[in-house]
Amino acid sequence: MSDVRTVLKKRPQLLALITASVFSFTVLLPGSYVRAQAGGTFEAVLVLHADQSKGTINRNLYGQFAEHLGRVIYDGIWVGEDSPIPNTRGIRNDIIVALKKLNIPVLRWPGGCFADEYHWRDGVGPRDKRPKRVNTWWGNVIETNAFGTHEFMDLCELIGADAYVGGNVASGTPQEMEEWIEYMTSDSNSTLANLRRQNGREKPWKLPYFAVGNENWGCGGNMRPEYYADVYKRYSTFIKEYSGNHITRIASGASDSNYAWTEVMMSQAAKHMQGLSLHYYTLPTGDWSKKGSATQFGEDAWHSTMARTLQMDEFIQKHSAIMDKYDPQKRVGLMVDEWGTWYDSEPGTNPGMLYQQNSMRDAIVAGINLNIFNQHSDRVQMANIAQMVNVLQSMILTNKEKMILTPTYHVFEMYKVHQGATLIPLDVTAPEYTFSGTSSGASVPSVHASASRDKAGKLHISIVNLDPNRSARISIRITGPAVANVTGRILTAPAMNTVNTFDNPDAVSPAPLRDLKVQNNQVGLTLPSKSVVVLEMS
Ligand code: AHR
Repeated sequence: MSDVRTVLKKRPQLLALITASVFSFTVLLPGSYVRAQAGGTFEAVLVLHADQSKGTINRNLYGQFAEHLGRVIYDGIWVGEDSPIPNTRGIRNDIIVALKKLNIPVLRWPGGCFADEYHWRDGVGPRDKRPKRVNTWWGNVIETNAFGTHEFMDLCELIGADAYVGGNVASGTPQEMEEWIEYMTSDSNSTLANLRRQNGREKPWKLPYFAVGNENWGCGGNMRPEYYADVYKRYSTFIKEYSGNHITRIASGASDSNYAWTEVMMSQAAKHMQGLSLHYYTLPTGDWSKKGSATQFGEDAWHSTMARTLQMDEFIQKHSAIMDKYDPQKRVGLMVDEWGTWYDSEPGTNPGMLYQQNSMRDAIVAGINLNIFNQHSDRVQMANIAQMVNVLQSMILTNKEKMILTPTYHVFEMYKVHQGATLIPLDVTAPEYTFSGTSSGASVPSVHASASRDKAGKLHISIVNLDPNRSARISIRITGPAVANVTGRILTAPAMNTVNTFDNPDAVSPAPLRDLKVQNNQVGLTLPSKSVVVLEMS
């Protein structure tokens, strides 16, 4: 049978010829049209209240995270100045080019769990003199410290991202933290500022975000929230602002539904912080001892992944409700500084390196979570997907001199139009997506969306069809100003687990949606199953 999935499986390059029109979706084949009816079609209505606004979508929701873990830093970013791989002062050129296209607003470093055993002095000065340490959190590999403060700040400047540095609370001192900040940001004639100059950087860097530890309920010292609240206040007192640098102080927050942590931190330390973090990882099984495969899965794992990733919305709502009690003005940002999928590591790789493939399922997860963050941008002021390269739900995978962009990368690239835009309220009416094979029998929404208006007045709507079988016939009604033009791009794939590989790097890549039309401020289009679409309207 000739359905869209089998056609695309045979001819993925035909994605570029996808064309959409009012209430029809067709794949343009030379001389023939194939309707996307595989598994049926459902209908959905989206009402976009373009005459209303709900505040600004903080561009930091599109942030990234790079930890000294697996091959994020070494191989993924840093190859060294003498490498045959083309580089700028040791940082891969291919990575720089790819990351610049995402407009990454902020980059978190050096961890993660690694942050609470990192001593910054190990990573400055001549590289051949830097000490070698054992990375006890991640695979017990040797940390050469070749990539340290100067290299990280260089990376930030090369890709245009703000620096978000995590301090060491669990095995470091307030003095060490204070001195690191002085080293990075002071323009004075102090010994530490001069040490930075001696190490090659005359002017101080901007350091807008600084975290006091990481997961201090776990790898960051196994503390009780009451204890950490005091520790936080002590350490954050020594986060000083030198030479006009302003720092947003971020306290280590809860994971998942640990609302007690948020309650204690907000009641005891809110006035000392500008941000409180939240971590939540999507595991298909919800079981840390057997998380599930990144690529070998069926619809049961697809459905449970959707259900579990949608829990992000509930966690944000409930943590926000606690924060509202102590901070009704929403001065303190909820910083979701670790999120994404976490699967069993790729077979044949060191499990401590957390290397996993990235499929169409990850693209859907990314689209859903970015929509959720957009919708909660009154409280969520930053989010950092874990992690940027070669680890967990990454943007990029590298293999020696080769590099590929993942489906998740493409979602970030398509969604960047929301950065700094005004959130527009949106009503979605769509059937549930149910899968009878789930033990819980739970259902999830089949369509997930968010919308914004940018500074030039253009409307953008990002829509995800979570259903892996049915296409969605969508009617978008725009209230308010007249809309005359619409364009769009789509990311979809032949199968739930389609991935980009080093041999086939473009199996999942965005394609333009052609022949979109607006009539009476309405746009109709059909989204194929398991797809992500971003429309632009003006
Ligand atoms: O992202 C991997 C690890 O997950 C981080 O180091 C830690 O903060 C979290 O548990």
